[in-house]
Amino acid sequence: MNAETRNWSHESICLRPRELDAESIAAEVAPRTCRVDFDAPGFCVINVGRDINPVGFRQLMADLKREMAGIHEAASGKTLAYLSAGRFDQQETTRLHLDGGPDECLLMLGYEPSRVDSEMAFADYAKCAFDLGLSPEQFMSEYNPMFGHADDVLRPYTTRVPCFSPRDYRIVCINNSCAAYSDSRPAWQGVLHGATVPAPDASESRVINSTMLASVPAGTPDTVDVSQLTD
Ligand SMILES: [Fe+2]
Repeated sequence: MNAETRNWSHESICLRPRELDAESIAAEVAPRTCRVDFDAPGFCVINVGRDINPVGFRQLMADLKREMAGIHEAASGKTLAYLSAGRFDQQETTRLHLDGGPDECLLMLGYEPSRVDSEMAFADYAKCAFDLGLSPEQFMSEYNPMFGHADDVLRPYTTRVPCFSPRDYRIVCINNSCAAYSDSRPAWQGVLHGATVPAPDASESRVINSTMLASVPAGTPDTVDVSQLTD
């Protein structure tokens, strides 16, 4: 096992675009997130700053999804469709976990500015499983991180995000897949995500706009209306 493997540089996981142009942001995000091997992080954090409002922020998320779908179509012939979309206040600490979804899926999470501090971490469980000779699904059943059974084995594969600034708008893109690695049939390789909220405050909010995206045949209509994200 190579403990150096997941030592991602700041630039590889943190984006701070000068302009909120969805096309150019998508060109940076897609290769970092939609990985089919272990040469990319499988996640990235985009700091959008504070010069935007919640409605504009959700529009940017929708535009980013559309642009990423275009990149995915050009690369694979398939597109991206929303599986779910929601907006909620969340201040609970969550262990490293995979959200329930199909074998190949992405999360695009939009964090609104909050006075509640939080930290985010990712673990490259797909690479860890690969190094152990397991499929991601086998890894999750043998080392379920929700119960703390994977803390030691995942430590060299875990990255704490150095740019998760609670006072700014942030979009976090995560490869949430559990597909097995294959040379002959490339499939998205996922990572686990978790958040720590050291001091929850019931008088404050920590709003997350949460969407899950799946790779689907081109032309498939969205089953979830993204306007659900709009107030
Ligand atoms: Fe989650």
